[in-house]
Amino acid sequence: MTGHGHQHAEEGAPDMFEAPSWEERYAGEEKVWSGNPNPQLVTEVSRLTPGTALDVGCGEGGDVIWLAQQGWRVTGADFSANGLARAARHAEEAGVADRTDWWQVDARTFAAEGRSFDLVTTHFLHPPDGGMVEVAGRLAEAVAPGGHLLVVGHAPSEVFTHLNESHRNAMFLAEELVPALPDGFEVLVVEQRPRRVVRDGVTVDIDDSTLLARRTS
Ligand SMILES: C[S@@+](CC[C@H](N)C(=O)[O-])C[C@H]1O[C@@H](n2cnc3c(N)ncnc32)[C@H](O)[C@@H]1O
Repeated sequence: MTGHGHQHAEEGAPDMFEAPSWEERYAGEEKVWSGNPNPQLVTEVSRLTPGTALDVGCGEGGDVIWLAQQGWRVTGADFSANGLARAARHAEEAGVADRTDWWQVDARTFAAEGRSFDLVTTHFLHPPDGGMVEVAGRLAEAVAPGGHLLVVGHAPSEVFTHLNESHRNAMFLAEELVPALPDGFEVLVVEQRPRRVVRDGVTVDIDDSTLLARRTS
């Protein structure tokens, strides 16, 4: 999540893709993200009929809470127990605890385990080394017939040239994810959406890679 007052990761830190570094970030008291829902989530999901939703890499739960407030019954998933604990606390404070539950999973080995959702969404998860392609395929398996998959992340950009290779390759274009979709998906949105954000007091233009697909069968 960038912009809207979100803090950003210490970019390029070698272990930042693994759970312990996220546990550490979420261990303190200070809020890491703004709590505002991600803009592409609001744009795409506002026109859907609420049902059940899964948000993978939910962090402190900003998107989960927004979805619950729109009438969705939401499962927030993350590999950080501290992140999930914070998210649950925020959901309680927002009065939507009864519409939310939590699931500790690593997206890189995610298996739906027989569960399915009307919406599966993930924002700025960014597994290293092009890992989002496989993750998108795994998440698609959890979409119920007639349901939607929404995947959003940073597109490669010169804003990220200072990062190490593994981290740069964590950025993706929406079209790179399309081949990972199982049969029976109709692609509705596949594009990079420009967004202006202020990071550390500096205004930067970034692109949100956005894939929205619907499971037709
Ligand atoms: C940049 S934050 C984004 C949080 C939230 N989606 C947002 O947009 O504010 C990435 C989140 O994904 C989680 N995460 C990163 N890699 C993960 C993985 N392999 N499996 C599950 N969660 C992961 C982190 O713990 C963190 O909460």
